Amino acid sequence: MSVKDKNIIIGISGGIAAYKIPLLVRSLKKAGANVQIVMTPAAHDFVTPVTLSTLSGRPVLSEFIKDSTGSWNNHVSLALWADLMVFAPVTANTLAKMATGQADNFLLAVYMSAKCPVMIAPAMDLDMYAHPATKANLQKLQSYGYEIIPATEGELASGLTGYGRMEEPEKIFKRINDYFAGKKDLSGKKVLASAGPTYEAIDPVRFIGNHSSGKMGIAIAEAAAERGADVVLILGPTHLQANHPNIRTVKVQNAAQMYDAVHREFDNADITIMAAAVADFTPEQTAGQKIKKNGDSMSLKLKPTKDILASLGQKKSGNQILIGFAMETENEKNNALKKLRKKNLDFIVVNSLREKNAGFKHDTNKVSILTKNGDVIDYPLKTKKEVAKDILDLAIKLK
Ligand code: CTP
Repeated sequence: MSVKDKNIIIGISGGIAAYKIPLLVRSLKKAGANVQIVMTPAAHDFVTPVTLSTLSGRPVLSEFIKDSTGSWNNHVSLALWADLMVFAPVTANTLAKMATGQADNFLLAVYMSAKCPVMIAPAMDLDMYAHPATKANLQKLQSYGYEIIPATEGELASGLTGYGRMEEPEKIFKRINDYFAGKKDLSGKKVLASAGPTYEAIDPVRFIGNHSSGKMGIAIAEAAAERGADVVLILGPTHLQANHPNIRTVKVQNAAQMYDAVHREFDNADITIMAAAVADFTPEQTAGQKIKKNGDSMSLKLKPTKDILASLGQKKSGNQILIGFAMETENEKNNALKKLRKKNLDFIVVNSLREKNAGFKHDTNKVSILTKNGDVIDYPLKTKKEVAKDILDLAIKLK
């Protein structure tokens, strides 16, 4: 499938990047799409409706009321007509209104009536883009299931240089094209994920284990497979399994087996995500027979396991992305930051056992991500599937 004959609404708000939208309209029209432009009143100062109506072949819409006869533009039927809505550029103000569901102009009323997928390409000055309110609004819009086309770095209209430039029209066109072509953003990529606990045998009957269910790592493997990746899942002992034809599961029991299995696959992996809760210690000796009660106490001598993630961090090449998890009970971010550095990771996903409905066995999780560049992203409580998507989105951005 392609954009040909698809109905696409382009929503323009009042930022300088609006002057680039005619190029996007032209590319879409050349590819055979039906394009309807909707502009906020402020956008008229940055690009003329005559240019846009000429290129799109349709009158530009901005107001609810058409003319003095009282006839009106129906935002609901327009929204139903669309196969895709692309909002570009989106100012900080429009972004905030979109995140909070305000509909005080025609463009926002069309947006609020959307039943089709929505793409959002913000553009603003660097401090506005970096503002916590803007970050929170973007996260909120992402959590509604909309696709964010992040602003890029470069020279801004203010004369400053930084993040805030709207993505270039040809790249936005490609995103639209890929969407209709059903192209998946991880096709051709190899993802290695680990999940679940490890069981360190004490004797043939007993083991040292932990409460991990494997849900988070399995959600990551499934999300990556759905996005077209070839996935190898190294899975510790759990009754859960991953279901997708693109996933090859290798089952292991203990930390040493997980170390070997992960290392066998690592060199081919573009993205490696260690979500498994690997035991840090294992019995020095595993008894061949069931240990019998003998007296009032019993002690076990433990030895450290090999840190799989740290060994991958030492081995990884420049174009491999390595992601770890940290499960903490206190000083979450500080501890995680130390692990990020020590294990040479691209980013670390932190979850705290103090959060309600997050962590072991739950279907939801509340995480923060710390990146090697010093960014800290706090996410709200989400399903593990949505958390998996956030992790993959960030990994792709770094690739
Ligand atoms: N990990 C690993 N191999 C180990 C232990 C942990 O690969 N032997 C990985 C986990 O999969 C996780 C990350 O390291 O991605 C963090 O594990 P964690 O146990 O929280 O950190 P540790 O470095 O073991 O530190 P500590 O136990 O002191 O908190």
